[in-house]
Amino acid sequence: MEDVTDDPTPLPTDSVKHERESTRLRVFVAGAAGMLGRDIVRTLADAGHYVASPFRDQFDIAHPQHLESLRTGVWGQFDWVINAAAYTNVDGAQSAVAQAERTNHIGAGLLAFTANEIGARFLHFSTDFVFDGNANASYDEGAPPNPINVYGTSKWHGEQEVSKQHSQAVIVRTSWLFGVHGKSFPRTMINAWREGKELRVVADQTGRPTYTKDLAARTRTLIEHAPVPGTVHLAGPDIMSWHEFAIAAVSAYRDRTDPSREVNIAPIASSEWPTPARRPRYSVLSLAKSESLGIAPMRAMSEALSEFAALVAAEKA
Ligand SMILES: NC(=O)c1ccc[n+]([C@@H]2O[C@H](COP(=O)([O-])OP(=O)(O)OC[C@H]3O[C@@H](n4cnc5c(N)ncnc54)[C@H](OP(=O)(O)O)[C@@H]3O)[C@@H](O)[C@H]2O)c1
Repeated sequence: MEDVTDDPTPLPTDSVKHERESTRLRVFVAGAAGMLGRDIVRTLADAGHYVASPFRDQFDIAHPQHLESLRTGVWGQFDWVINAAAYTNVDGAQSAVAQAERTNHIGAGLLAFTANEIGARFLHFSTDFVFDGNANASYDEGAPPNPINVYGTSKWHGEQEVSKQHSQAVIVRTSWLFGVHGKSFPRTMINAWREGKELRVVADQTGRPTYTKDLAARTRTLIEHAPVPGTVHLAGPDIMSWHEFAIAAVSAYRDRTDPSREVNIAPIASSEWPTPARRPRYSVLSLAKSESLGIAPMRAMSEALSEFAALVAAEKA
């Protein structure tokens, strides 16, 4: 079986097929070129499912003609439609409200509506940023959202619209994603450390880093078990600050490439790193519901980062 993480080349833009026919699901993945989308497409294809994986130029989730092509069967027939497409530039969204709303709210709703029309289940990704981060305990699925920035607001609007348009929708909230495909916080930290830059990282925001390959595997488990509709949190098992996450990521990379070199990363307060969008202070999703559904916890962050660091090191070799 080919491992996606060994192959940084783009996946085919039309579909990925596999020989195993048994419990084969037909899955349409919007946002297939994104960091999470790529791992989902490869995970499902490797498991023997039929996956249609259009990139944004072929399928924009807010484009009426593209939605019509899904409705009329141009892409095939599907058991599941997965929405991994999103406007994810958290700071950019502050001055691009219409763009964020177009994809994260309107597009998500239109795609859910279309999935319902074609008789497919719908799985949508959302974020810990729907919460304000003022809590001192983890957020369960029933906690009231209260987003504090435009991105979080657009994603919360999207959740509500998706639920309205598809009564069987599954909404997966996740947090602090990193994966080998595309930009991510640990990759940025590793690159800066390699270049010998002085590193200062906020230590007063806390969350659960989540490896997209592990989230893709849990997504596969979910759709294979035809979950009940509703919201579920899926995120990594370890709770840490961005500062601790940076140290863990750079150390994992250092251990493979230059074990004698020091990792010096200064902890700073959010107030010392002003950003256009405010971030939640305590952004920890409760995983109790996913555990009660029998979804296995993801790998410890040390293991996930070790794999991630090895792949990044191999790219640079
Ligand atoms: N990244 C995180 O830390 C994080 C944390 C919590 C939750 N999430 C959620 O997890 C999901 C996946 O995020 P990700 O990090 O994989 O995002 P990503 O890497 O930015 O990928 C999103 C993909 O969606 C595409 N896209 C944007 N607008 C679209 C549209 N209107 N129609 C079709 N495709 C569109 C983007 O294409 P272009 O690049 O061409 O615009 C990109 O390929 C999203 O729902 C996100 O909100 C992410």
